Amino acid sequence: MEVTVAKTAGFCFGVKRAVEKVYDQIGRTEKRIYTYGPIIHNEQVVGDLREKGVEVIDSLEELKTIRNAVVVIRSHGVGKNVYEILKENGVEIVDATCPYVKKIHRIVEKQSAEGRKVLIIGSEDHPEVQGIKGWGDERTVVIEDMDDFLKLQLPENEKLCIVSQTTFNYKKFQDIVEKISKTRYDITVLNTICNATQERQVEAMRIASQVDVMLVIGGKHSSNTQKLYDICRKECKNTYYIQTLGDFNPECISSVRSVGITAGASTPNNIIEEVHTKCQS
Ligand code: F3S
Repeated sequence: MEVTVAKTAGFCFGVKRAVEKVYDQIGRTEKRIYTYGPIIHNEQVVGDLREKGVEVIDSLEELKTIRNAVVVIRSHGVGKNVYEILKENGVEIVDATCPYVKKIHRIVEKQSAEGRKVLIIGSEDHPEVQGIKGWGDERTVVIEDMDDFLKLQLPENEKLCIVSQTTFNYKKFQDIVEKISKTRYDITVLNTICNATQERQVEAMRIASQVDVMLVIGGKHSSNTQKLYDICRKECKNTYYIQTLGDFNPECISSVRSVGITAGASTPNNIIEEVHTKCQS
């Protein structure tokens, strides 16, 4: 039986880098180690880190009470105020912000300082977006669609800068930008969408269209895994959503010639490898 594992399955570059940075801290320091928010939406990884002494800080209030410790900032990044609080309290910062997100922080800071009103296209309550917003000034706003833009009722000739949440849908972004471009504002647009998600989806779709059975691995609350599953299911009727090897029923591949495997952005490599090995046995 032929088994194809997607090259883009699992962690993207930024998440892989962040998880590695946390593991690197273990044993390196006597201080307590924290991550600000779970480093990744994966219970196994967070559980493993907890066993190794890494704790999760859940709120800004809690963060303010931390002293004599190491705090890892996850790939989503955080606003400027978080760095200021940590520095003021003498906390050691390990910055695992994805470089692509960091780039947006720099853009927002610079454009705001130059007098532009920054519009972030994305979901207001997403931690990455909150972090990005934290690099702008009080005029920086988040919009999710054209309605949100119109509600702003901006004065004519307002100088705008438009950036995007890294995981925002590219077509929707283009559509909003196109509409805003037709208005009478002076606009600077920076497409800051990361293509890791899109590449994973395109590859999953291609593999699913060529195999008898497709396995999609990821946490049950992971929206990007659900999306991958939906994409694959359209191409291959025999698509299965599994969280770990424990959910995998080998009977589903007992009489097929080819199997494809992909995984959501928060699925660790060892789970992908376990499933891969099982398929080959
Ligand atoms: Fe991942 Fe960084 Fe892109 S965290 S999805 S590589 S912006």
